[in-house]
Amino acid sequence: MKKKIAIIGCGGMGGGHAIAIGSGTGNAVYNADSSKELGTKIFDSSANTDISEKLELAGVYDSNPDRMKWAAERGFTLYESFDAVLKDASVDIVLVATPNHLHREMSIAAMRAGKHVLCEKPVMRSSRELEEVLAVSKETGCLFYPRQNRRWDRDFRIIKKIYDEELIGEVFRIESRVQGSRGIPGDWRKEKEYGGGMMLDWGVHLLDRLLFMISDPIETVNCRLSYILKEEVDDGFTMLITFAGGKSALVEVGTCNFVSLPLWYAAGTKGSAVIDNWRCEGKMVQLASWEDKDTTPIMAGAGLTKTMAPRDEKSLITQPLPDVVYDDNELYSNVVDVIEGKADQIVTGAHALRVMRLMEAAIRSSQSGETVRFEESKGR
Ligand SMILES: NC(=O)c1ccc[n+]([C@@H]2O[C@H](COP(=O)([O-])OP(=O)(O)OC[C@H]3O[C@@H](n4cnc5c(N)ncnc54)[C@H](O)[C@@H]3O)[C@@H](O)[C@H]2O)c1
Repeated sequence: MKKKIAIIGCGGMGGGHAIAIGSGTGNAVYNADSSKELGTKIFDSSANTDISEKLELAGVYDSNPDRMKWAAERGFTLYESFDAVLKDASVDIVLVATPNHLHREMSIAAMRAGKHVLCEKPVMRSSRELEEVLAVSKETGCLFYPRQNRRWDRDFRIIKKIYDEELIGEVFRIESRVQGSRGIPGDWRKEKEYGGGMMLDWGVHLLDRLLFMISDPIETVNCRLSYILKEEVDDGFTMLITFAGGKSALVEVGTCNFVSLPLWYAAGTKGSAVIDNWRCEGKMVQLASWEDKDTTPIMAGAGLTKTMAPRDEKSLITQPLPDVVYDDNELYSNVVDVIEGKADQIVTGAHALRVMRLMEAAIRSSQSGETVRFEESKGR
């Protein structure tokens, strides 16, 4: 049976959900568009679930009349208030896509009204808020599903495949970055009270994916938030995370970068990989053999070096990045399957809580100027 979903907050993201769910094709709408824009086919839609068989858009509500007009012009059903959504017995799922400071109260109210919740990232502003919401989910038996959609980004799928399948040996160092030059977007994202700042906005995506990929316990975090643009919230950060067993990750978000570094860099015991951009251009470079050990020094800059001398091309194998095929609509689909008891939850509240605690440790590190030891919760 199809589940009916109502969207609260029909702005940039909520409007996107309305189009994606309302059209029945899900995220394929966007990927098809961005394929055109990027001039290259970046996805294989053959793996996509037909969400029109699982989800139906009940309607939308936004407190801004302009957004209601936008929704009406596209033929979406309008609710006159949030309360009207909660009172509609035919609604199974409430999708919370309002600014971050409203996620807590709206998620709790929806679950108390017997609705399952799909909540936009960052699900909450703090681990305390999230603990409260997860307790209500447990108490009511209603699903709380964090929408960490960037686990389905192509670049992440590629790096995860390289990592999981040890295509460059065992990865011991990974760098995950997003860098833009447009500052902090919009209005509420610039204010602390509304859950603004780039740690909550983009950090949550990068950390969610990183911890989904690397399962080792975290040992320490060292972070510096940046305030280059002189807003009251961070406009980016640089974070170093170390894991038990020796792996490390550098995570960086910037909004004042006019040249962007690659989205991903991974160093493994047998090679290195780089993903330059969202078009997923990049390569894997591996060593053909360790034979080429001896080299003559080269002149590099104003000095001689053997250590940093580039390798002979013959001793290297350069390969394209691996191909990945996956279901662009898996998150929407998983929400319905979990409700129907047919699948495990892919993005869990417990995972979101671990990510939130890591962000809080990072903020403490930035405030104190010190490396912070990360306490993993028991039974993780
Ligand atoms: N997962 C992603 O990739 C992604 C991308 C963008 C935004 N988001 C998240 O989506 C959420 C919304 O972000 P956005 O960029 O769409 O912001 P936005 O400002 O474009 O939209 C928010 C909408 O909520 C409405 N709203 C505010 N208060 C309301 C209330 N009390 N009742 C009903 N509607 C209300 C506003 O009028 C606005 O239209 C945020 O949590 C953001 O982090 C997620």
